[in-house]
Amino acid sequence: AEYDRLMRELLEIEEKWPELVTPDSPSQRVGSKPLSKYTQVKHITPMLSLNNANTENDILDFLQKIKNGIFELRETDAPIEIVAEPKVDGLSCSLRYEHRRLVLAATRGDGFIGEDVTKNILAVPDIPKLLPSTAPDSIEVRGEIYINDLDFIKINETQETLGNKKISNPRNAAAGYLKQLDLNAVKEQPLKFFGYALGEIDNNFASTQWEIRTKLSSWGFKLNEPAMLLSGIKEIMAFYQEIEKKRSTLGYSIDGIVYKVNDLSLHQRMGFTGKYPKWAIAHKFPAERAHTHIKKIIISVGRLGALTPVAKLEPVNVGGAWVSRATLHNEDEIKKRDFRAGDLVIIQRAGDVIPQVLSVELTNRPKDSSPFQYPTKCPSCGGPIERNDSEATWTCNAGIACPAQAVERLKFFVSRKAFYIKALGDKNIEQFYSEGLIRIPADIYKLEEKLSPKTLYNHNDSGITPLKDRDGWGEISANKLFAAIRDKKTITLNKFIFSLGINTVGETLSKRLAKKFKSFKNMQNSINKAISGDKEERQSIQAICGEVATDSLLNFFKNELNLNSLNQLLEEISIESEDVEAHKNKPLYGKTIVFTGKLTTMTRDEAKTRAESLGAIIGNSITQKTDIVVAGESAGSKLKKAERYGKKITSEKEWKEILNGKQYFNEYETN
Ligand code: IVH
Repeated sequence: AEYDRLMRELLEIEEKWPELVTPDSPSQRVGSKPLSKYTQVKHITPMLSLNNANTENDILDFLQKIKNGIFELRETDAPIEIVAEPKVDGLSCSLRYEHRRLVLAATRGDGFIGEDVTKNILAVPDIPKLLPSTAPDSIEVRGEIYINDLDFIKINETQETLGNKKISNPRNAAAGYLKQLDLNAVKEQPLKFFGYALGEIDNNFASTQWEIRTKLSSWGFKLNEPAMLLSGIKEIMAFYQEIEKKRSTLGYSIDGIVYKVNDLSLHQRMGFTGKYPKWAIAHKFPAERAHTHIKKIIISVGRLGALTPVAKLEPVNVGGAWVSRATLHNEDEIKKRDFRAGDLVIIQRAGDVIPQVLSVELTNRPKDSSPFQYPTKCPSCGGPIERNDSEATWTCNAGIACPAQAVERLKFFVSRKAFYIKALGDKNIEQFYSEGLIRIPADIYKLEEKLSPKTLYNHNDSGITPLKDRDGWGEISANKLFAAIRDKKTITLNKFIFSLGINTVGETLSKRLAKKFKSFKNMQNSINKAISGDKEERQSIQAICGEVATDSLLNFFKNELNLNSLNQLLEEISIESEDVEAHKNKPLYGKTIVFTGKLTTMTRDEAKTRAESLGAIIGNSITQKTDIVVAGESAGSKLKKAERYGKKITSEKEWKEILNGKQYFNEYETN
């Protein structure tokens, strides 16, 4: 009641004197309309990233560079004072206070321009809305918005009861809340904040990083603890190791330790690179590990028939990702390490690498467990399997007669670098295959006929449910899928060859084959001749493919099932032949281009695609025949080789100019 009375009084005042309405006024928080979009905020002091270190040597390097950069430190042995503190796995946020009142909260964005999230931030209890009189009049406090471990677990429990997908890490969950447009939903949210740095300030009230932390704490900010003042590599490494051990007990997620030079006057003198301050570095923790149980061991059959043992795990969060399976490599590995269903194991995940089982906790092994029995036949088709001793791998050679391989081939057929039918996902393919609706790629083009109501009503006793009436589908999505399939009825020759999924015939080789044979007919004729024993024909194929790929190519075309599938497919689609005339006028026609180093404005894939669209041929290594060398950041040996050959080096900027229509001219060409 008291709240309501005060609220009414406030609203009356605000109505009379609207200029008194502040962004943190409760009238602005409660029940306000969802924001339609975020306004952009330019950061006066950019919000930079941190350079990463992984090893003790990287840290020694960091310390040495500081010494080298500061004249009077060069000659002394005096250690540099460093503040070490946890690197919080959240989202950085900048809070601007004017006249000690919080007026603006912004995300980092691209470091220069962020988004205004003031309204959402006002609901975060950790963030002081008003600073005490001891604080400067105008100041920007920077730090990390995060969600603690307990809240994160709760969020995922709720997700589970609602039947929603689990959120893979607290950082993503925090981003969701921070950018929530419905402010009513934000009112009860778990966001928290640690202050650890300053942005723009109107007077330098502190002379050390440590002082900044102390001041922030005295103004009511929470700090990312434990932090410590250290000097010298020994102390630094000891702190790092201690926190790594404590990591899981901190209550919030961290991914390393940040070291910052304590003396702020040195910050100014050392400055920044384009991306990060030279006075700070993030010492990352190695790949995360976690304990979990093996539910069972299964054998997965790949597209080319390779049998891989896989541990199905109790899902566990490792370094921000949910892991529910891990590879057990091969038969020898399982035997040697004796992995069993029911075992408690430690698994490790590093970046995008497939998770691995590191070790088994033998003391926890269930009494009734027994060693894993490797199958003696293919778990998918029941056919015979063959062992390759040098790799300890087993293979099922049934090809598309084996359901697992047929399904993997279909997935490959619609994948991004092949026919790219995005709307037809892996789960759909598995489902349609199990119902017998698609068995070979040609069947994909008959799906509409089989699953659209128009045709189904004509022969209604089929017992098939139209796609639009199925779980997870509706009229719109069903029509979208049919349209997407219709849209992919023509394809370039190289992509067609690639989409067949022939062992060892990858993207590059497919392109070379397309360039050589110009049409699928030519290629098939040549292969057929080679199959029937024409030595010369085989040699000419081998000249571009090498022996291994030639064998696998011929084997593919010898197989009746493949030929049948192929012929049916050719009735559904058309292949664009390699049209030489069409390419002749292109600006980079016939030029061989090699990319090296890291491009900062486009992916390698995009760069290659665009080069090809200008008529260029992509080379993998520098040879005398290389025409254009585009060198991005930290280009290594290829760049050196190109220089040795006297090649002109094209920068990323010049490369973009070529893409934008500037004529390419190699100044060495006239020599
Ligand atoms: S200092 C100029 N301290 O890490 C750099 N950053 O990888 C100022 N981060 O964008 C940042 N914990 O979001 C600093 N204790 C900490 C941090 C921290 C996490 C984040 C921050 C930054 C990112 C860079």
